Amino acid sequence: MTPTLLRLSTVCLAIALSGSIGWAEEAAKAPAAEINTVCPISGKPADPKVTVVYEGKTYAFADEASRTKFNEARENSLYHKLGGQAAISAVVDAFYVKVLADVRIKHHFADINMAKQGNRQKAFLSAAFGGPVAWTGKDMRKAHIDLKLTEADFNAVAENLVKTLQDFKVKQELIDQVVAIAMSVKNDVLNKPKDAK
Ligand code: HEM
Repeated sequence: MTPTLLRLSTVCLAIALSGSIGWAEEAAKAPAAEINTVCPISGKPADPKVTVVYEGKTYAFADEASRTKFNEARENSLYHKLGGQAAISAVVDAFYVKVLADVRIKHHFADINMAKQGNRQKAFLSAAFGGPVAWTGKDMRKAHIDLKLTEADFNAVAENLVKTLQDFKVKQELIDQVVAIAMSVKNDVLNKPKDAK
């Protein structure tokens, strides 16, 4: 993470902690004292003595090899490079400030509970960026099908996301990776055939 993003995310961590704690809780699901019994890497029974604490949550693994694989995946993830939970939370909050001020698309969010929406977007993007918690919410096609969104709607959302990341001084190389992930769900969001260009 760039020093600027680190600074911004530290400042925003306070905001994130006060406003978005629900997301972290929602994402982690299990109470803090409980740890997983199935290894998230191998699918075998987890050994409660082989653990990693990542962003305050403890993960148990079947063996040392699985633990190493988990650590490598965390370090190499776009999630981690962007600054993890605190940075992504701050980016999504700033992104929705832009979206709600954007006359091209704000009407889509008029009746939406934005606190919930923010938490879901944080959870979705975190998982898509390789974060430690899988997305368990709606499939993107189902989530957007009733909205009848257009190419212009999608482009406006993508533009707001890129501008937000630029405000946070995220490196272009990482912004490109975020855009690629956004593009990978475009046909679902717009309810087009999977292979539509
Ligand atoms: C990269 C593109 C997009 C991503 C990753 C994305 C992600 C999401 C996610 C994770 C949810 C919550 C799903 C759930 O409830 O489990 C959601 C809902 C929603 N999205 Fe998107 N979205 C995208 C594009 C758009 C666009 C272009 C618009 C409109 C301009 C939009 C408007 C909405 C609205 C209004 C909801 C709430 C639907 C409801 O609660 O009934 N999204 N989106």
